[in-house]
Amino acid sequence: MSLDLDKRQRAMLREMGVRIWQPPAPAAAPAPAPDATNNIAVGVRPERAEPRFDAEAAAVRGAPAPAAPALRPVAAQMPVSRPAPGLQPRPAGVDRMDWPALQAAVAGCRACALCESRKNTVFGIGPVVADGAAPQVDWLIVGEAPGENEDLAGEPFVGQAGKLLDNMLLAIGLQRGNVDTVPRAGVSTSVFITNVLKCRPPANRNPDPAEVAQCEPYLKRQVELLQPKMILALGKFAAQSLLQDSVPELQKIPLGKLRGQVFRYLGVPVVVSYHPAYLLRSLGDKAKAWDDLCLAMNVAPTVVRSA
Ligand code: URA
Repeated sequence: MSLDLDKRQRAMLREMGVRIWQPPAPAAAPAPAPDATNNIAVGVRPERAEPRFDAEAAAVRGAPAPAAPALRPVAAQMPVSRPAPGLQPRPAGVDRMDWPALQAAVAGCRACALCESRKNTVFGIGPVVADGAAPQVDWLIVGEAPGENEDLAGEPFVGQAGKLLDNMLLAIGLQRGNVDTVPRAGVSTSVFITNVLKCRPPANRNPDPAEVAQCEPYLKRQVELLQPKMILALGKFAAQSLLQDSVPELQKIPLGKLRGQVFRYLGVPVVVSYHPAYLLRSLGDKAKAWDDLCLAMNVAPTVVRSA
């Protein structure tokens, strides 16, 4: 898609400290590399291969690089499947719950072992609605799982990746709404931010398929109640969770190949992009993330705010 920015987008990017640079004219000096955490290099088409799906996932969870293959085969250890004491089935009727009931169900969930190690559940954050009803938001942002900071705060994306996410959202005229939000002129809080998993996987490991399966009904019900006009799926786990029923052989498709398309989840348009934690380590791909935001804005033009 075109990376042409209009006046309003340039002004917003400038305001949030995002350096805007275009591909140099043929005889121009070499272009600077995108540099800081909060900078989205706009108009850059880095000459590098798409990251492999697993590399992106590893970056998101802060996982170390995969170890070199072992030289000698190691005897396989069969995991001992033993239900952890204290687990309980997910509350019945999630698909019919209202917003407060859903919040309570997540807060008390003991359906998988993550409940043993979590400090807080992380339901999500969005505009506060007086009577406790679900906020009707234009945008839903879906990440992977809470990390350490989010587990402590009970709020998604509060660490470095969250700062980048906030700046990306600001560039399209959105800010997270919570009780402390100071309204800004021309900026909307019509966005809810959540994760596939509502509890932190210990040591930033990847979500386990069984944990994702336990949590998915909560995300589904959130979408039904929030009725967003656009879902932005950040990273592999969000994409897989939202698209598993609509994209054949999804597991085999690298995240980069899911970008640039509009999918649907419960009838809501879904755009896939890189996870902000991955972008913190792969600065060259911020330009692609900006493309993704532009695509999402083009698909849901009514939700673009004018500054
Ligand atoms: N990464 C995520 O996917 N979600 C968070 O809330 C924080 C980091």
